[in-house]
Amino acid sequence: MSNPSEAELIHMFKGIPFTTRSSPELLKSLDTFDAREDDVLLVSYPKSGTHWLAGVITKLYNTQVTLTSPIEFGDISRLEELNKLSSKRIIPTHLDYNMLPPNFKNKKCKMIYISRNPKDTAVSMYHYYRDNPNLPTVDTWTAFFDLFLKGDVVCGSWFDHFLSWEEQENDKNILFLFYEDMKKDLPKTVKEISLFLGLNVSDNDIQDICKKSSFSEMKSDTEKENSDPSHTVCALTSNRKLIFRKG
Ligand code: A3P
Repeated sequence: MSNPSEAELIHMFKGIPFTTRSSPELLKSLDTFDAREDDVLLVSYPKSGTHWLAGVITKLYNTQVTLTSPIEFGDISRLEELNKLSSKRIIPTHLDYNMLPPNFKNKKCKMIYISRNPKDTAVSMYHYYRDNPNLPTVDTWTAFFDLFLKGDVVCGSWFDHFLSWEEQENDKNILFLFYEDMKKDLPKTVKEISLFLGLNVSDNDIQDICKKSSFSEMKSDTEKENSDPSHTVCALTSNRKLIFRKG
């Protein structure tokens, strides 16, 4: 069977390339999405450490929370499913700030934005493109890097994405994190997240969360399928095994 063509995999919405796994109808309906005051948004450009952060956040709660798939992922029926969830929702998204459903802003939902050095993000994304059948084929690193710089990759330009969020840096409801800081001192970042979310977490629990969130633990959990392999927080794949590459 031949590889799917780029047109079968990618479509443009408001000038940004999305995979066809995000249906145009769903994207159009996001403007009317019904946010709840206690929703927590987990925001990233792809390949910035979204799964790592999601692993940490879900472990911080001792009440029931649901880590949903990304808000822009799937078809229109997804919105109904999200509406029906009775527990607190942790909602991942790769949307830039301008495309975010306005209700999240109006209801002052807490949002955590994670970013990563764009050079490492680009390398990670290159490998992801090569391994992921839901993304167009790329031949060489040079060709991919050119597309990345032009913003001609899924979710558009890293620079536009980052800038759209950085403009909100004074918004007290948004916590900005860096992948590199998590690598350097994970307990410090976990503490920062717990304070931001208003959670009372002991130092012992923080140590335990950090242990369980190490790259090797998370990768081996996925390989042993201790976690649902189809549950990803990235709208570009439903295969967790593609996520944990080198860390
Ligand atoms: P690499 O491809 O450089 O290895 P996302 O979750 O946003 O798709 O990001 C994936 C990147 O985060 C991958 O980077 C992956 O290996 C890395 N990652 C995932 N879990 C990690 C962890 N526990 N510690 C460090 N890096 C992690």
